[in-house]
Amino acid sequence: MTGTSSNDKFKKDGATMKSDQKRWDKRFGRKEFALGKKPNSFLKKHIRLLPKGKVLDIATGEGRNAVFLSQHGFEVDAMDISERGLKKAQKLAREKGVKINTFLVDLDQYQIEKERYDLIANFYFLKRRFIPRIKKGIKKGGKVIFETYILEHRTLGAGGPKQAKYFLKPNELLRLFKDFRIQLYREGIFKEGGRKKAVASLIAEKI
Ligand SMILES: C[S@@+](CC[C@H](N)C(=O)[O-])C[C@H]1O[C@@H](n2cnc3c(N)ncnc32)[C@H](O)[C@@H]1O
Repeated sequence: MTGTSSNDKFKKDGATMKSDQKRWDKRFGRKEFALGKKPNSFLKKHIRLLPKGKVLDIATGEGRNAVFLSQHGFEVDAMDISERGLKKAQKLAREKGVKINTFLVDLDQYQIEKERYDLIANFYFLKRRFIPRIKKGIKKGGKVIFETYILEHRTLGAGGPKQAKYFLKPNELLRLFKDFRIQLYREGIFKEGGRKKAVASLIAEKI
C-alpha cells in the first residue's frame, strides 16, 4: 500500500469515479471543515468498546473520526478519494498533535488486505459491494463500527445524499453483518450537534 499519490492514478477509472472525486474535492475545498472537526457521537460514546490496535477509517473525508481514534491510542490508516479531504485530515491531525496515515484511494477499486485490521470504521459511506471486503480485512475477534443514513432521513429535510441507493433499508445493516456478533445496534431518529438525523449504527465483532 502506498501513501497519498497523484491524481493521475485515478484518470483511468472513468467518469463516475472522477465525478465522485471532483464533487468531494469541491465540498472539501473551503477552509472550514464541511463535516466539522468533532467526531461522530456514536463513535465518541462507545470508544471503550473498540479493540485497540490497527484501525482503518474508510472514506475518512476530512478526518474527524480518524483523528479522534488516533487521540485515543489507535494506529490509524485513513482512506478517501478526495485529496483535499485528506489534506484537511492531516491538518486536523497536526492541530491535535497526533499522527494518521492517509491514502488516496478509490474504494471501488480497492481490496483491503486480509485480516489486516483490529477495527474498521465506516461512517456515512454506503457501498454494499464493499462490505465483504470490510469483513475480510478485519482480524478474527476484531470489530467494525458503522453508521449511515436510513431511508427515513429523507423525510427530515436535514440534508444528506439524494439517491435512494445511499440509504439503508429497515434492518439492512443488521442483515449485512449477520455473520458477525452484533454488540450494539440502533436504528431511528437521533440528534447530533442540535440536528436530527435518521441513521443505523452498529458495532459488531468478527467471529
Ligand atoms: C459523507 S462523507 C463521510 C466522511 C467521513 N466518513 C465522516 O463521517 O466525516 C463521504 C466520503 O466518501 C468519500 N468517497 C466517495 N466515494 C469514494 C470512493 N469511491 N473511494 C473513496 N472514498 C470515497 C468522499 O470523498 C467523502 O469523503
